[in-house]
Amino acid sequence: MYDFTHAPDRRGTDSVKWDVQPGELPMWIADMDFATAPEIVAAMQQKLTLGAFGYEEPHADYFHAVADWYATEHGVPPDPAWMIFTTGVLPALSAIVRRMSHVGDSVLVQTPVYNIFYNSIENSGRHVLTNELRYVHQQYEVDFDQLERQLALPLTTMMILCNPHNPVGKVWTRAELTRVATLCRQYHVVLVSDEIHGDLVWRGPDYTPIFALPIPLIQQTIALVSPSKTFNVAALHAATVIVPNDHLRAQVSRGLNTDEVAEPNLLAIPGTIAAYTQGHAWLAALRQQLAANFAQARDFITHHIPAVHVVASTATYLMWLNVGAVTDDAAALAASIRQETGLIVSPGTIYHGNGNRFLRLNYACPPAMLQDGLQRLDRGITHYLQTRQD
Ligand SMILES: Cc1ncc(COP(=O)(O)O)c(C=O)c1O
Repeated sequence: MYDFTHAPDRRGTDSVKWDVQPGELPMWIADMDFATAPEIVAAMQQKLTLGAFGYEEPHADYFHAVADWYATEHGVPPDPAWMIFTTGVLPALSAIVRRMSHVGDSVLVQTPVYNIFYNSIENSGRHVLTNELRYVHQQYEVDFDQLERQLALPLTTMMILCNPHNPVGKVWTRAELTRVATLCRQYHVVLVSDEIHGDLVWRGPDYTPIFALPIPLIQQTIALVSPSKTFNVAALHAATVIVPNDHLRAQVSRGLNTDEVAEPNLLAIPGTIAAYTQGHAWLAALRQQLAANFAQARDFITHHIPAVHVVASTATYLMWLNVGAVTDDAAALAASIRQETGLIVSPGTIYHGNGNRFLRLNYACPPAMLQDGLQRLDRGITHYLQTRQD
């Protein structure tokens, strides 16, 4: 019913992803090549027919759409009273860092992790405190002993969790989240859970929203959710902050308003409501496509590029490739692949931790385009290995 075999041609359209040289193929930024759900486009078109676009604010229908989406998709309805609209996950995250921690404080992240977290922390004059994920048997796990020691430090006032985790594609279990939330409560650390990839679990157990944990455990938690990754509508600039505790929510609300990141643009409300009320079937189809694409990429790499190991994953559309047998300088490898083949992937180096031995590849594109990318990856790795031997 939905078409995932064609990509709208976005060259020359102000797309960040497709601002490339002729012949280049971008598979780096977390932006899918699929057109969004037609139901969302129809709602936006309907809005445009109004012709007058003054100031807006979200009402009960917006917040109920968010709540119903989480009830239906993830089996847990957050209370609409816990929600605040914001213009994006990152704008909210940066505002929360500024409002809820102090200059010089430590903000904990689990590396390798989404690189822009570092900007949100450091641009506000806070320190990044690194709880490096342990890489054991080609899988990532939390070092809880170190985490507890770090959360207990007096200057650690905030932890940013990536749930599910970008770039390693891991879905944290309820037990792991319970342990993290319990430690944060014990040491009075605000726990910010970035759940932007939460709808993109395409196989196995679903992700657990942080607000699904027992009420006493979520009094110091802030969840950030958005349709932007799910429906490929990043330029909609719409997200929702979910804060169960009244006092904490009042402070977060002040932070968002002070930083002026709490007012919707003309398409944010109708686009989000359409996504969350009419997007279920499209998302189900997308998940099937992502599962098929992951299998296509994993099988190709296993057969044709044995020097590269695909890290197992059940979520996101970002493949985490262990290139440690090729190099420990992923930045040099990514630059060489681009130069030789035109394929653009993210060097894991930017995510810190052990990322210098990994590449991140975005596989949310039509299968034919993915095949092209995989063949370029094969050529690029082969060429890199040959030049290293010369
Ligand atoms: C974990 C994570 N958080 C946030 C964002 C960006 O969120 P937004 O566009 O709503 O600011 C991304 C985009 O890739 C992401 O991967």
